[in-house]
Amino acid sequence: MPRIAGLIREDVSTVLERDPAAKSRLEVFLCYSGLHAVWFYRINHWLWDRGFLLLARWLSQVARFLTGIEIHPGATIGRRLFIDHGLGVVIGETAIVGDDVTLYQGVTLGGTGKEHGKRHPTIEDNVVIGGGAKVLGNITVGRNSRIGAGSVVLRNVPEHSTVVGVPGHIIFRNGERVVITDPKQINDPLSEALAAVATEVSRLRERVQRLEGSEAAAEPLSASLQRIMEDIDYQI
Ligand SMILES: CC(C)(COP(=O)(O)OP(=O)(O)OC[C@H]1O[C@@H](n2cnc3c(N)ncnc32)[C@H](O)[C@@H]1OP(=O)(O)O)[C@@H](O)C(=O)NCCC(=O)NCCS
Repeated sequence: MPRIAGLIREDVSTVLERDPAAKSRLEVFLCYSGLHAVWFYRINHWLWDRGFLLLARWLSQVARFLTGIEIHPGATIGRRLFIDHGLGVVIGETAIVGDDVTLYQGVTLGGTGKEHGKRHPTIEDNVVIGGGAKVLGNITVGRNSRIGAGSVVLRNVPEHSTVVGVPGHIIFRNGERVVITDPKQINDPLSEALAAVATEVSRLRERVQRLEGSEAAAEPLSASLQRIMEDIDYQI
């Protein structure tokens, strides 16, 4: 019992730390449906682990009715999960969520519909997933990464990365801007096209300089092209 009270206190403190809108412990305790959903989940997971599968599933549907958040009791969830606003959040049966994760409303940690067994994502510690983002399949989002609102993520995300878009692609890694990333890790035809154009521009500039003689000063690149050329050299 003291342990449960301790966990509840910890969850309430987490919300006060992460949500500037939270004003008091009592408000957080009473008004944050994301917390209520997590507390329901803790009970349901306990039942699930002890073989009360139907009861656990039924209670998870009661929790969904009350909070608008559906967490499968078979999911594995770490400490201090904060689901902000919460409505429409879905966490699938084989999802694994680490410690200190934040999910906004409408986030799905779901399957692609094509896999069996472990078919939901693994979200490592300290990840933030923006509103409406869909993270699908047995993939891993590395710790300290951020997924932008509205993204659809279908591939592994390395640690310390920011991913946006549909399909999700990396825009920051380890604090550095990334336009062109390893094509094996993202599926972004626009990035591939930009890489090909920038490589060609670079080759042509060298050729023109050779033909004009090394004393001829090269025209400066436009700022946007300069940025792309620099990003090409940044390999993840
Ligand atoms: C992804 C996110 C974390 C990036 O934040 P950031 O590091 O401050 O990055 P910036 O705002 O500087 O944006 C960097 C680039 O990504 C783009 N971008 C940011 N968020 C995006 C998103 N969700 N989808 C698509 N592109 C996005 C920006 O337009 C910008 O592009 P540009 O450099 O070509 O102009 C943030 O934008 C986000 O989506 N947070 C989720 C917040 C949320 O869901 N809140 C719900 C509260 S209820």
